[in-house]
Amino acid sequence: LLSIRAMKDYTGPQDYFDQEYVHEWEQSANTKRPFRPRFFDAFVAELNGLSRPAVLDLGAGPGFLAEQVLARCDVSAYHLFDFSPHMLELSRARLAPYSDPVYFHQGSFAEEDWWEALPAPFDAVISLQAVHEVRRADRVPHLYRDVGLILRRGGLLLIADLLDHKGDDGKPVLSMSGHQAALGEAGFEDFRPLLVVKDLMMFRARLA
Ligand SMILES: C[S@@+](CC[C@H](N)C(=O)[O-])C[C@H]1O[C@@H](n2cnc3c(N)ncnc32)[C@H](O)[C@@H]1O
Repeated sequence: LLSIRAMKDYTGPQDYFDQEYVHEWEQSANTKRPFRPRFFDAFVAELNGLSRPAVLDLGAGPGFLAEQVLARCDVSAYHLFDFSPHMLELSRARLAPYSDPVYFHQGSFAEEDWWEALPAPFDAVISLQAVHEVRRADRVPHLYRDVGLILRRGGLLLIADLLDHKGDDGKPVLSMSGHQAALGEAGFEDFRPLLVVKDLMMFRARLA
C-alpha cells in the first residue's frame, strides 16, 4: 500500500492513476501523433535483428508497442513494466490474443531498486514516450544506469521519447545529445540516432 502511495505521489500532471485519463490517453495517443507507426516499425526492425530476444518495455502503457512487437517479431519473452494499474489492465486486454510468454509488472522506475524484482538479464530494453516521465533531465543518467544493471552485456537499448520535453524544473528532458551523454555516463556505447519525426525522436545504444 505504501509503495502504491509512493508511486501515486510521483505521477505528474498526467494522472496515470485516474482511469478516465488513462482511457482518454489510449483513445487519443495514435491520432494525436499519427506518425507513431513509423516508430513501431523502427522498433520492430531493430528487434528483428536479434535472435529471439527477451524484451523489457518500460512505461509500456496500453500495450500498443507490445502488440506490434508480438505480431511481427519472434521474442522469447515480452515484459511490460508500468506503474499504472489502468494501463496494465488495458495492455492485458490488448495482448490477450497472443500466445507468446508475456509478463506484466507493476512498479515505478522512479523508485530506488525498481528493477530488482525483474527477471534479468534482458536482451533488449525498449521504451516509447516514457523516459521523460522521470520529469527531470538529471534523473535520466540514473535511469540508464539502472537499465544497465538488467541488460545483458552487449544488450540493446531502444528509446523513443519526446524531444526537448520540459521537465518540472523548466529544463528539457532531454535533447538527443543529452540522451547520448547520459548513456555514455551509464556505460553504453554505439549510440545511434534512428528517427526524428516532429516531437518524437528515437535512438539506440548497446551496453558495453
Ligand atoms: C505517455 S505514456 C506511453 C505509453 C506507451 N509506451 C505508448 O507509447 O503507447 C507513459 C507511460 O509511462 C507510464 N509511467 C509514467 N511514469 C512511470 C514510472 N515512474 N514508472 C513506471 N511507469 C511510468 C505511464 O503509466 C504510461 O503508461
